[in-house]
Amino acid sequence: MKKPVIAIDGYSSTGKSSISKVIADKLGLIHLDTGALYRGITWFALQNCMDENGSINLQELFSSLDQIELEFRNNDGELVLYLNHIDISKQIRTNAVSDNVSVVAKQKEVRDFLLHSQRSLAEKGGIIMDGRDIGTVVLPNADYKFFLTASIDERTNRRYFELASLGIQADRDQVKQNLIDRDKIDSEREIAPLKQAEDAIVIDNTELTKEETIDLILSHIKKI
Ligand code: DC
Repeated sequence: MKKPVIAIDGYSSTGKSSISKVIADKLGLIHLDTGALYRGITWFALQNCMDENGSINLQELFSSLDQIELEFRNNDGELVLYLNHIDISKQIRTNAVSDNVSVVAKQKEVRDFLLHSQRSLAEKGGIIMDGRDIGTVVLPNADYKFFLTASIDERTNRRYFELASLGIQADRDQVKQNLIDRDKIDSEREIAPLKQAEDAIVIDNTELTKEETIDLILSHIKKI
């Protein structure tokens, strides 16, 4: 039987990626964290496409997109993102990337560049993809669509502790402001904005643990 295609969208730091990873392991699916791809392009831009004012030169980035090769490798069961054959899994979680990724992700050239590869990965089924526009744009025919949300204070806490676990010292107010700014840009952009697909199941996990959220999602997915 064909394995399902599952779309998980929602706000920043609602646990989309870590939840998707566990569900992928349980159901034998591939997991694609599409936010990591946008972060990878942002890291590339910060290294290679800066103007004299310290801002990303978007035109330079667009003309450099064909030099970018993003690839997930399986390192001892952990999917690790490589940019042009270099492990950038730590770099893409830095504040510099978080502060700039929404501006990069709202560009049509960048979204078009990533759209094709995201869709082709889902062609054979058996995939869970998390992001902002998976249920609405990338995989509108997904078998299951979920939209995750949680209060801003709960999401701030989660992000703060995630950074701490990566050894990244952060200021709580800055973390909160970054989430607010990012959600605003992601929701208000013209192309593929963050929004709930009409046929998505909405889960507010403010009061739920990661395990409870996983169980709730699994309860909606028929046995395969
Ligand atoms: O999920 P994340 O926080 O790692 O995503 C980083 C940024 O990438 C987020 O601010 C919005 C953008 N993004 C997007 O526009 N579309 C996606 N499918 C995934 C992420």
